[in-house]
Amino acid sequence: MMVGPLTFRRVNHHRSEFKWWIPAFLSFRQTILVAVWFTIFAVLFIWQKNLIDGLLMFRRPPPRPIPKLRPVAFNLTDFGGVGDGRTLNTKAFEEAISSISKLEKIGGGQLNVQAGYWLTAPFNLTSHMTLFLAQDAVILAIQDEKYWTLMPPLPSYGFGREHPGPRYGSLIHGQNVTDVVITGHNGTIDGQGKAWWDKFRQKRLNHTRGPLVQIMWSSDIHISHITLRNSPFWTLHPFDCKNVSVTNVTILAPVVGAPNTDGIDPDSCENMVIEDCYISVGDDGVAIKSGWNQYGITYGRPSTNILIRNVVIRSMVSAGVSIGSEMSGGVSNVRVENLHVWNSRRGVRIKTSPGRGGYVRNITYQNVMFDNLRVGIVIKTDYNEHPDEGYNPKAVPVLEDISFTGIYGHGVRVPVRINGSEEIPVKNVTFRDMSVGITYKKKHIFQCAFVHGRVIGTIFPSPCENLDRYDEQGQLIKRSELQNISNIDYDF
Ligand SMILES: *[C@@H]1O[C@H](CO)[C@@H](O)[C@H](O)[C@H]1NC(C)=O
Ligand SMILES: *[C@@H]1O[C@H](CO)[C@@H](O)[C@H](O)[C@H]1NC(C)=O
Ligand SMILES: *[C@@H]1O[C@H](CO)[C@@H](O)[C@H](O)[C@H]1NC(C)=O
Ligand SMILES: *[C@@H]1O[C@H](CO)[C@@H](O)[C@H](O)[C@H]1NC(C)=O
Ligand SMILES: *[C@@H]1O[C@H](CO)[C@@H](O)[C@H](O)[C@H]1NC(C)=O
Ligand SMILES: *[C@@H]1O[C@H](CO)[C@@H](O)[C@H](O)[C@H]1NC(C)=O
Ligand SMILES: *[C@@H]1O[C@H](CO)[C@@H](O)[C@H](O)[C@H]1NC(C)=O
Ligand SMILES: *[C@@H]1O[C@H](CO)[C@@H](O)[C@H](O)[C@H]1NC(C)=O
Ligand SMILES: *[C@@H]1O[C@H](CO)[C@@H](O)[C@H](O)[C@H]1NC(C)=O
Ligand SMILES: *[C@@H]1O[C@H](CO)[C@@H](O)[C@H](O)[C@H]1NC(C)=O
Ligand SMILES: *[C@@H]1O[C@H](CO)[C@@H](O)[C@H](O)[C@H]1NC(C)=O
Repeated sequence: MMVGPLTFRRVNHHRSEFKWWIPAFLSFRQTILVAVWFTIFAVLFIWQKNLIDGLLMFRRPPPRPIPKLRPVAFNLTDFGGVGDGRTLNTKAFEEAISSISKLEKIGGGQLNVQAGYWLTAPFNLTSHMTLFLAQDAVILAIQDEKYWTLMPPLPSYGFGREHPGPRYGSLIHGQNVTDVVITGHNGTIDGQGKAWWDKFRQKRLNHTRGPLVQIMWSSDIHISHITLRNSPFWTLHPFDCKNVSVTNVTILAPVVGAPNTDGIDPDSCENMVIEDCYISVGDDGVAIKSGWNQYGITYGRPSTNILIRNVVIRSMVSAGVSIGSEMSGGVSNVRVENLHVWNSRRGVRIKTSPGRGGYVRNITYQNVMFDNLRVGIVIKTDYNEHPDEGYNPKAVPVLEDISFTGIYGHGVRVPVRINGSEEIPVKNVTFRDMSVGITYKKKHIFQCAFVHGRVIGTIFPSPCENLDRYDEQGQLIKRSELQNISNIDYDF
C-alpha cells in the first residue's frame, strides 16, 4: 500500500522533471502498438486466402438433399432412431422396415438414414425397399455377439464354415426378397469387426462369424454409392440370388489382421455385375463361390453370368479376384475386365481340390493390371480345406476354357503359376497379349503343370513349354508335347 503512491509520486516527479521523456515514452508505446497491429494486418492480408480456405474446411457444407426414390420415404428418426453412436436403433430399423413392407402395392418405401452414428443389432430387409445412407451416415454394428441371431448353416456348405452347426446371421440380412436397393451419398455400414477378429484369433467364438450384408434367395438387388467397412467376416454375400448389381461401392478392412474379410462373395448367383468399385480388405477382394464338397454338389446351384469390371483391389493376404475354393455347384461364364490389383499377394486365382466336384468353365480375364504382387495368375488344384471327411475324393472338378487377354503390370515375382494335376488337368487355357515386368530373375517364373492350351503372339515373360504357340495371325508355330511336365519349383 505504501509502495503504490510512492511509485506514483516518483512517476509524477519524473513527468514534471523530464517533460520531453513522457511524450517520447507514449509515442514509443504507440509505435509498438502500430507496428504490432500493422504486422497482424499484414499477416492477415498476406495469408487471407489461405485463412479463408482453411476456415472453409471446417465449415460444413449443407447436407446434400436426399432424393426421393420411392413413392413413400421415411427417416429413421420418425421411428425414434437416435444417431449418437450409443443408442441402440434396432427397433427403429425394424419398425421402419415393417412399415415399408406394407407399401408393396404402391411401389415400396424408402428409409433414409441421415448423418450420424446409428448403432444397431442385426435386422432384416423387406422387398421393394430402398435403404438410403446420407453423406456422413454411419450404421454401426453392435459388437456383443449375444445380439447376433443364429441361423442354420447354408445348405450348400452343410457347415457354419468355421464351426459346425449354426452360424451368426449378417448385420443387414435379406431372405426371399426382391427389388431391394441399398444406396446413398456414400454413407457407411461399419461392422466394427475388430472385436470379432480378436475373438476369432483367440478361439473364443463357438459359431461362424456373420457377414456384414447377406442377401439369400433373392432377386433384383442393387447396391451402389455406399461404403462397407470392417465386416466381422465376408463383407457382402449374395447367396443363391439372381440379378444383383454392385456399383460404385467402396469396401474397406485392414489389409492384415482382419481374417476372412472378403469384399464380395457371389455365391451360387446368376446374372451379377460388380463395377466401379474400390476394395481393400484382409482376404480376397472378390471370391466367386458355389458351395462346398458333397453339400455343394447336392445343392447344385452354379454361379454363372458374372461380370466384374473397372475394379481396383488390394489384398495383401489373398488375391484380387478368386474363384473357389468352394465351387462345387460350378462356376461359369465369368468375365473380368479392367481389373487393377496393387500391392497384393496375388492377382487372380482359381482354387479347388479333389472332393469339390463341379467345374470352372468359360472364364475370361481381359485388360488386367498387376502392380507389385508376389504372384499374378494362380490356378491351384490342391486347396485341401474340407468341412468334414464325408467328401468323395473321386469328385474332381473340371477346369477349362480359361482365357487371359491383355495382362500387364510390373513388380511381379511370379507372373503365372498354374498347378494342375494328373486328376485335375487345366484344359484349354489361352494367353494373348501379355507383358508383365518381373522383380525376380529366376528360371521358372511362368510356371505350369498339367496345363493344355496356347499362347498367341508375344508373351512376356516367355511362356512355359506346356502351351502350344501361335503367331499374331493365329498360325500354329509349335505344338507342345509337354502339357504334363511341371516346372513349379518354388513357392511364394
Ligand atoms: C426427413 O428429414 C428431412 C431433413 O431433416 C426433412 O426435410 C424431411 O421432411 C424428413 N422426412 C420425413 C418423412 O420426416
Ligand atoms: C431374419 O429373417 C430370418 C428368416 O426369416 C430369420 O431366421 C432371422 O432370425 C431374422 N433375423 C432377424 C434379426 O430378425
Ligand atoms: C425362401 O426361398 C428358399 C429357396 O427358394 C425356400 O426354400 C424357402 O422356403 C423360402 N422361404 C420363405 C420364407 O419363403
Ligand atoms: C466414399 O467414402 C470412402 C471412405 O471414406 C472414401 O474412401 C471414398 O473415396 C468415398 N467415395 C466417394 C465417391 O466419395
Ligand atoms: C462357448 O461355449 C462355451 C462352452 O459351452 C461357453 O462357456 C462359452 O461362454 C461360449 N462362448 C460364447 C462366446 O458363446
Ligand atoms: C433378371 O433380369 C432379366 C433382364 O433384365 C429379366 O428378364 C429377368 O426376369 C430377371 N429375373 C429375376 C428373377 O428378377
Ligand atoms: C462414383 O460416384 C461418385 C459420386 O458418388 C462419382 O463422382 C463417380 O464418378 C462415380 N464413379 C463411377 C465410375 O461411376
Ligand atoms: C461365356 O461367357 C460369356 C459371358 O462372360 C457369354 O457371353 C458366352 O456366351 C459364354 N460362352 C459359352 C460358350 O457359354
Ligand atoms: C477354348 O476356350 C475358348 C475361350 O477361351 C473357346 O472360344 C474355345 O471354343 C475353346 N475351345 C474348345 C476346343 O473348347
Ligand atoms: C502342385 O500341385 C501338386 C498336386 O496337385 C502338389 O503336390 C504340389 O505341392 C503343388 N505345388 C505347389 C508349389 O503348390
Ligand atoms: C496328360 O495328362 C492327362 C491326364 O491328366 C492325359 O489325359 C494326357 O494324355 C496326358 N498328355 C500327355 C501328352 O501325356
